[in-house]
Amino acid sequence: MIYSKIAGTGRYLPARIMTNADLEKIVDTTDEWIRTRTGVERRHVAAEDQTTSDLCVEAAVIAMEDAGVTADDIDLIVVGTTSPDLIFPNIATLVQHRLGIHGCPAFSIEAACTGFLYALTTTDKFIRAGETKCALVIGAEIITKLVDWTDRATCVLFGDGAGAVIVKPSEEAGIMSCHLGADGQYKELLYYPVGASKDLHKAGVGDSRILMKGNEVFKVAVRTLGKVAQEALDANGIDKDDLDWLIPHQANLRIIQATAKRLGIPMEKVIVTVQDHGNTSAASVPMALDVGVRDGRIQRGHLILLEAFGGGFTWGSVLMRY
Ligand code: ACO
Repeated sequence: MIYSKIAGTGRYLPARIMTNADLEKIVDTTDEWIRTRTGVERRHVAAEDQTTSDLCVEAAVIAMEDAGVTADDIDLIVVGTTSPDLIFPNIATLVQHRLGIHGCPAFSIEAACTGFLYALTTTDKFIRAGETKCALVIGAEIITKLVDWTDRATCVLFGDGAGAVIVKPSEEAGIMSCHLGADGQYKELLYYPVGASKDLHKAGVGDSRILMKGNEVFKVAVRTLGKVAQEALDANGIDKDDLDWLIPHQANLRIIQATAKRLGIPMEKVIVTVQDHGNTSAASVPMALDVGVRDGRIQRGHLILLEAFGGGFTWGSVLMRY
């Protein structure tokens, strides 16, 4: 039996940090409101001339070094993102070129905040099929360029970043299960109204911004994340107490706490980065994984449940031994 195993991790956050106090100067909000409603204290914001592939390359180099692999070893690149540099070519090919890699398949997956889990799950299939020996998988966003900075209901939530992992085949687990799902009926609750084939050239300032019914997203997110986690545990006959770490999508501390409570998992076993990163969409789970690995909490052999939920809605989980 071949498993996929994470051989190395990396993350990159843009240099500029925007605190809640900085936001108080831009919109009618307070540090107290943002902290109590979302748990966010600060977020990193990309520079005007930075693109998502820039962030990907930085995170990838760190992950490759951590795994002890070089550009010559990489034979698959998958990037989960909603904020690619260009409509085409796909961002994974831009990353491939920048890393000096030639010839291997390179593609992106768009599943909003679940993008990394979709990318990792897809990679797992390539590895199990015996087609891939060393994959670079990235979740990355510059979501702050999609935000309306006059809309206090959304601009306080998001941040930029990239998380990368190197995935290799292994005789021992490894990724034990992947579960993905989606339900397009919820599009109106969270979406971006402009795209390649819709209003791209008509859109003016104010049309291009994230539209969200926060309250309703919140409710479906908590319900779905609890169900997704339980589904992964049940499929593997694993009790929640056997989990070493839960790494949920970092959208909102209250969603994370409600999900952990629903599952009966103590917050000490949950990796939380939302206070420092904000909601970085597809980048949130791989960056949280990297934070846990690098600060020594996550050790080899630990049982970890990754889960995410995002626009679409899309959702997913990966249960793995690190
Ligand atoms: N500062 C101060 N007041 C604000 C702000 C702000 N930044 N934003 C909204 N308010 C006000 C509203 O205008 C409203 O005022 P009113 O009562 O006078 O009308 C009041 O605060 C309450 O607004 P709600 O939207 O009901 O506040 P809620 O407690 O639901 O929190 C939030 C809003 C944080 C967006 C929450 O609903 C949430 O986190 N939802 C989940 C959605 C999410 O995380 N989306 C991110 C992307 S999706 C994903 O990653 C899954």
